[in-house]
Amino acid sequence: MILNIPGVLTTEQLAQARRLLGGAAWIDGSVTAGYQAVKVKHNLQIPEDHPAARELGALVLGALERNPVFLSAALPVKVYPPMFNRYDPGQTFGTHVDTAIRYVPETPHRVRTDLSATLFLTPPAEYDGGELVIEDTYGTHSVKLGAGDMILYPGSSLHQVLPVTRGTRLASFFWIQSMVRADADRALLYELDTAIQQLAGVTQNDASVVRLTNVYHNLIRRWAEV
Ligand code: NI
Repeated sequence: MILNIPGVLTTEQLAQARRLLGGAAWIDGSVTAGYQAVKVKHNLQIPEDHPAARELGALVLGALERNPVFLSAALPVKVYPPMFNRYDPGQTFGTHVDTAIRYVPETPHRVRTDLSATLFLTPPAEYDGGELVIEDTYGTHSVKLGAGDMILYPGSSLHQVLPVTRGTRLASFFWIQSMVRADADRALLYELDTAIQQLAGVTQNDASVVRLTNVYHNLIRRWAEV
């Protein structure tokens, strides 16, 4: 499932993010790339222990914790601390796969990258190129979202970022370990939850809604690892 989650950050949060990123130290993005990705990764990142990365990461995590679409679609058990990247003209990240297990720096924690997320921080009018292109069995999907919007996609996908040809593209990127490992199972639960929410909105305490909610939770009991 590839899902666009609009408005993850507010206008004020975006302004704060861009102010912090404007004053941050940028380093070569290859420092966190695996052996295959490092050959095709040409961008800039903020060091993971930089104060701006920590402050902004907390802001992004706080926004995710309050986002019902994210919680329903990802069923998160762990989120890797958000990182921040920048593509200037000519910079790109060729086709690669994200490492399956990420070690959270300076902690004993590991995150299985069931889902990948990109949170766009620059309005699309400010740059050309820089599309995130995700491959799945239906072909390729080109993604370029508004500032503050986020794309959630299976960590198992091959993907790339096309070269930026004008302006600068800023984004946050991170991974999620889900309580429900299989993408198809998560998609089913998301569909069911969305339908139940819609039904609950048009009926008053309908017995069918209660029964469907029971089915939803029983599927979670069957499939979730916590
Ligand atoms: Ni990637």
